[in-house]
Amino acid sequence: MTDNFDYDVLVIGSGPGGYVAAIRAAQLGLKTACAESRETLGGTCLNVGCIPSKALLHASEIYEEAHSGALEKFGVKLTGAKLDLKQMMAEKTKAVGELTGGIEFLFKKNKVDWLKGHGSFESANTVKVGDKTVTAKNIIIATGSSVTPLPGVDIDNSKHIVVDSTGALELPKVPKHMVVIGGGVIGLELGSVWRRLGAEVTVVEFLDKILPGMDGDVRKDSARIFKKQGFKIQASTKVTGCTVKGKKATLTVEPAKGGDASTIEADAVLVAIGRKPNTDGLALDKAGITANDRGQIEVGHDFQTNVPGVYAIGDVTPGPMLAHKAEDEGVAAAEFIAGQQGIVNHDLIPGVVYTHPEIANIGKTEEEVKESGIDYKVGKFPFAGNSRAKTNRDTDGYVKIIADAKTDRVLGAHIISSLAGTMIAQVVQAMEFGATSEDIAYTCHAHPTHSEAIKEAAMGVQGKPIHI
Ligand code: FAD
Ligand code: NAI
Repeated sequence: MTDNFDYDVLVIGSGPGGYVAAIRAAQLGLKTACAESRETLGGTCLNVGCIPSKALLHASEIYEEAHSGALEKFGVKLTGAKLDLKQMMAEKTKAVGELTGGIEFLFKKNKVDWLKGHGSFESANTVKVGDKTVTAKNIIIATGSSVTPLPGVDIDNSKHIVVDSTGALELPKVPKHMVVIGGGVIGLELGSVWRRLGAEVTVVEFLDKILPGMDGDVRKDSARIFKKQGFKIQASTKVTGCTVKGKKATLTVEPAKGGDASTIEADAVLVAIGRKPNTDGLALDKAGITANDRGQIEVGHDFQTNVPGVYAIGDVTPGPMLAHKAEDEGVAAAEFIAGQQGIVNHDLIPGVVYTHPEIANIGKTEEEVKESGIDYKVGKFPFAGNSRAKTNRDTDGYVKIIADAKTDRVLGAHIISSLAGTMIAQVVQAMEFGATSEDIAYTCHAHPTHSEAIKEAAMGVQGKPIHI
């Protein structure tokens, strides 16, 4: 297909959107290159996002279990469990290295050329990568996102005091008091890591509840669980400034709706108020593309921008900033370029917060269903009634299923459970197939498993759960 171009497809950015798009394009017989300005492949997700955060969540969970005496009730007596933070960080770095190296291997295997350097458009078919100029018949922008700064709070990861998520993944010691600005996904995941390792953690959230966008019950009940674990949550509060003196930071905070200012002292401050699309330095204007007022690149159903032959996927486009959304869009964009029909169902992108318990969701929240005016029913089943969770002493949380009252079609599911991230896949698939709550209720689930709570919640939609 190359005609007079160097490549059929040039992907800018090698995160989960970009590297997956490049591999799929190559699999479909297209001559493909991927430009990446970072030293290693894999983007935010593999280098400073999903993977290192999950490595630390796993390690810190084991540490807390071993250290807190929580295992004694199971007859496991551990004395003198100690934290070796350097080793914990080294294991995280090793996992990241293995996975980013894995992408390099996959690029070689699929004959994707890795072009090292920052990419910027010269025209709709020409991109400068470092000091090389490359032409491509199709270009996929997959440049991802970066941390949203907070005016008045200067991030300096090198000093390990006021940090963003990248800095919070490599603190050299456990802070005595960490203040997390933003009660969203990053704040709760990385706040959990440092709380488990011994920090006192205060979450300062602008809105009246943590985890905006999630189901109202989940927002309320997860806050209760986090507080029980020791998190301090200061909702309806805005941070107006931060000064650093020596090794301490002092934050100035005010009630979100106005009122008297007060201060909070911290040894570490994590700024986690969201992320913004990466379009700076891309010279989008030279390709004829304009970002929208949120800095995102708008695309059509085929992921093409307003300029034919230029596509965009992942965090740089509208929608949830999630690795699996970026990956699925990468596959679909490559398939459209190859003349196939790419498919992403944007109504069914699951979300998972990897705290303990995990929080997972799919489809609509109860508030969204109510707002849409649809007549609906809710089935809710607590893990306190699930035999496996009870046996494991793991009963925090529930499954909540929302179904259309007339058609019984499942509209949304919300799970708080240690295994929520794995369990939600079942409901996602059921919803993809247009399942009713009755379809789920009459599906045989293995016993004893946490997944039986999904079946019971579905039975609950018809008012007939067995175990409560
Ligand atoms: P990115 O992964 O951001 O990759 C874009 C790449 O493009 C980067 O490597 C960048 O260097 C490169 N680039 C940018 N501009 C240029 C240019 N001009 N030229 C060349 N290269 C360029 N999501 C989940 O689904 N699950 C999780 O558990 C999860 N955990 C997270 C934890 C943290 C701490 C963070 C910060 C994010 C997390 N995310 C998670 C979000 C996830 O990382 C992103 O949604 C995902 O990485 C987006 O993929 P992407 O391909 O769009 O962009
Ligand atoms: P977020 O959007 O999840 O949460 C930001 C929080 O900060 C919100 O609760 C918001 O109300 C609050 N906030 C905004 N401005 C504030 C202010 N001035 N003061 C106090 N609070 C303020 O963003 P977060 O946590 O930074 O994560 C960024 C993105 O990364 C998310 O979109 C998420 O999808 C992705 N991510 C996904 C993960 C996962 O899937 N497990 C893990 C980590 C990140």
